[in-house]
Amino acid sequence: MAREMSKIQELLCTKRKTVPCAFSSMSFMHLSLYRRKILRALFVFAFALTCVVVAGHVEPVLGSTDGVTSIFRPLSQPAQEIKETSFLVLAICAVIFVVVAGLLVYALVRFRHRAGDQLSEPPQVYGSNQIELAWTVLPILIVFVLILVTSRTIADIQDRKAPRGAIQATVIGHQWWWEIRYPELGIVTANELHVPLSDVTGSRPTFLKLQSADVAHSFWVPLLSGKTDLIPNRENMMWIEPTKPGTYLGNCAEYCGTQHARMLIRVVVHPPDEFERWVRAQQQSASVETSTAAGRKVFFANSCVNCHSIGGTSAQGRFGPDLTHLMSRETLAAGAVPNTTDNLRLWVRDPQKIKIGCLMPNMQLTDAEVDQVVAYLQTLK
Ligand code: CUA
Repeated sequence: MAREMSKIQELLCTKRKTVPCAFSSMSFMHLSLYRRKILRALFVFAFALTCVVVAGHVEPVLGSTDGVTSIFRPLSQPAQEIKETSFLVLAICAVIFVVVAGLLVYALVRFRHRAGDQLSEPPQVYGSNQIELAWTVLPILIVFVLILVTSRTIADIQDRKAPRGAIQATVIGHQWWWEIRYPELGIVTANELHVPLSDVTGSRPTFLKLQSADVAHSFWVPLLSGKTDLIPNRENMMWIEPTKPGTYLGNCAEYCGTQHARMLIRVVVHPPDEFERWVRAQQQSASVETSTAAGRKVFFANSCVNCHSIGGTSAQGRFGPDLTHLMSRETLAAGAVPNTTDNLRLWVRDPQKIKIGCLMPNMQLTDAEVDQVVAYLQTLK
């Protein structure tokens, strides 16, 4: 290696007799190595930036991403406004990047080392008032614009007043499920937030009070809004105003323990008349069917009632989800599994098999009791 290095140096020396040998070859190699590193870093950064920007524009064109959440195709305020602000900030930063990187590349190429260059230092320039003013004032102006744009968006979102007809709901984070209450409508449910659609005929946003029963959680449905945390002993607010009916998926976005990943939320957006039907159905007490009396007896004889509520009965527990209309929900255990008979049976027999670490214990029911309880729960429509 050393021999090869000295050979290279010799070669360089014979080519350029005017400069001191060791210094010239080393600084030449350093310079070109340094330049290549900078160029590579610039290309990697530019590529990453392009990917982010292109993803934002290509993804909506690709369309059919049903069931996949994305911050790039918001279908509600305030998600739309947040996206617009983010892209404006990204665009301004991209312009700065292009200008700075362009000047850097230009300097690297234009003033690169050339054969026959003198290796003395170039003239040093100090104290140009114009240049110093320019690179002080310009960034201040840019940062000021960014602050104004961002503050306006934040203020717009936070100051939104509830119009007439707005829905008020309270979302309470638990390990690991969502309690959802509509105090004005007298509805309690879990893991599925049902809201009306806002369209040209009227604006019907849903205002959420966010609370936590235990640790910090975060409510995040990417197509509808940004994240807002649910903090113990504190109430946060947020609102959504979806403009397209459908089911929107989201999840807890703040690590909250073992089953944080299975703390999923669904927001179901209904056209107005469909929403009214849903409200009326949820306001009913639990149905009572004599054919499942055995299951009801098992349910009320065990400690199920300490944790679960069933409307119109003595079961008024609040540690677990309200079961009054359990069968109207698409999933069990906060989105862990679809709400099917088999999964319900597996859940009642041993919840730990589906969601290890969850706070519902194995009640040690016999096979017959499990079947009876499942039959009873399936009447809770
Ligand atoms: Cu709740 Cu993570």
